[in-house]
Amino acid sequence: MVVPYTHEPFTDFTVEENRQQMLHALKKVEKDLGKEYPLIIGGERITTEDKIVSVNPANKEEVVGYVSKANQELAEKAMKVADQTFETWRKSDPKFRADILFRSAAIIRRRKHEFTAHLIKEGGKPWKEADADTAEAIDFLEYYGRQMLELKDGVKINSRPIEYNQYHYIPLGVGVVISPWNFLFAIMAGTTVAAMVTGNTVLLKPASATPVIAYKLMEVLEEAGMPAGVINYIPGPGKEVGDYLVDHPRTRFISFTGSREVGTRIFERAAKVQEGQKWLKRTIIEMGGKDTIVVDNEADLELAAESIVQSAFGFSGQKCSACSRAVIHEDVYEEVKDRVVELTKELSAGNPHDNSHFMGPVIDQGAYDKIMDYIEIGKQEGELLAGGSGDNRIGWFVNPTVFGNVSPEARIMQEEIFGPVVALTKAKNFDEAIEIANNTEYGLTGAVITNNRTHLEQARQDFHVGNLYFNRGCTAAIVGYQPFGGFNMSGTDSKAGGPDYLIHHMQGKTSSEML
Ligand code: NAD
Ligand code: ALA
Repeated sequence: MVVPYTHEPFTDFTVEENRQQMLHALKKVEKDLGKEYPLIIGGERITTEDKIVSVNPANKEEVVGYVSKANQELAEKAMKVADQTFETWRKSDPKFRADILFRSAAIIRRRKHEFTAHLIKEGGKPWKEADADTAEAIDFLEYYGRQMLELKDGVKINSRPIEYNQYHYIPLGVGVVISPWNFLFAIMAGTTVAAMVTGNTVLLKPASATPVIAYKLMEVLEEAGMPAGVINYIPGPGKEVGDYLVDHPRTRFISFTGSREVGTRIFERAAKVQEGQKWLKRTIIEMGGKDTIVVDNEADLELAAESIVQSAFGFSGQKCSACSRAVIHEDVYEEVKDRVVELTKELSAGNPHDNSHFMGPVIDQGAYDKIMDYIEIGKQEGELLAGGSGDNRIGWFVNPTVFGNVSPEARIMQEEIFGPVVALTKAKNFDEAIEIANNTEYGLTGAVITNNRTHLEQARQDFHVGNLYFNRGCTAAIVGYQPFGGFNMSGTDSKAGGPDYLIHHMQGKTSSEML
């Protein structure tokens, strides 16, 4: 019997003992900087000449690791291994598979601060954000393990006296898992183990900015008893390796989390039936957001300002769930705006190493340039109220930035910036606020700050987002508590960390036996 699921608690770093443990873990992780990491195909370590260089975004000179890079030939080798391994793995006992997840969770929990320290280095995450990322990775392992145990005997269906009917879920085949860099541990681990625990074999292609943590997950899973070939680790260039595997006729499903641009490309390519392909590929595609906090006139305005600032600038706004627009009732606009600006000016961006800044860096030069370009656009489209500057000499730092009086149609109100930039706009009334909140092509998260019960119920029906929050910020969904996924161009709404998630990785099989 496994104990019921509860989420992993967060670490309180104001407790001196925890702080010391974290500093110690950072020292330990520093000893591993600059190491080399091979690919893992069928359990075999393969080193290539060509490397991905993973750097600390807070200090470009600090190399986290040199990671061997897959090409199409190695991707093909990994596909063959995964395809062969599927023939045994698909028949493995679901309990055996779930146990690998539980053991992995225990291994990570024992070395929790060490993983968190690694995320601070490779992802540039502030301590609190890195700790939450590790906790979420543990949660996915614990939650999906339990979900598999619930689903292993199928679902009860009806039988007449002359027959015995059964309904089971069986795995799909080889899954290609393509993960982003922002939840470098949690999303990468969650999407990978969901595919594996359901009896599929996996080709794991992590984001090129953060490949080392994925290698570390492989080590944990191997230590926990995962057989060779079940998950194959093949970091490589998105276009070369990604397109090849998405198009591959033996790919049975693709689980992607990342940008709208790449997600829609995968969706289109996966729809094309290739020569020799015997199925329609399943796609689980979770993409970006343009997430809104709506502030009503009957609301706790301090809570509103805090929710906007925390949701906009946590992890430098590099969350698909980040608040990048706030729609504020005109009666309270000035007051909320002033408080948002005040709170923003208290924040700083700097190296997260010693935990003295609320924000760390953004992930790389490309992200830095994109965000700074949007800040220039924002200066044309609204009034710059705070921030607006960056510094990319040592790491890629962007100061938290607020624009006021922005039109709902402006580019900074419509396009995903994925950085610490929030735009504020006014609405005449609550109806108009919800209309503005819905006027993007995305539909991932949103929040409403109001004390008006009728308005809460109106938002429940009309605010079209996959994750809707009342009287709190719009980030920080917890596995098993707030299943996560979005509508419209935010993706397929597969709801990671929710009760339906694993079923997307399986197919239902009915058997009916005459008695
Ligand atoms: P990205 O789309 O640039 O990359 C995601 C992954 O796709 C990476 O592993 C990348 O190497 C790979 N890739 C790139 N080109 C490819 C191709 N042609 N074929 C196959 N794979 C390819 O996204 P990112 O910058 O890593 O992540 C940020 C984005 O992810 C943001 O848009 C954010 O909103 C989104 N995101 C969404 C969720 C969610 O749950 N909805 C969660 C986290 C991040
Ligand atoms: N699950 C993450 C959040 O809710 C993306 O912020």
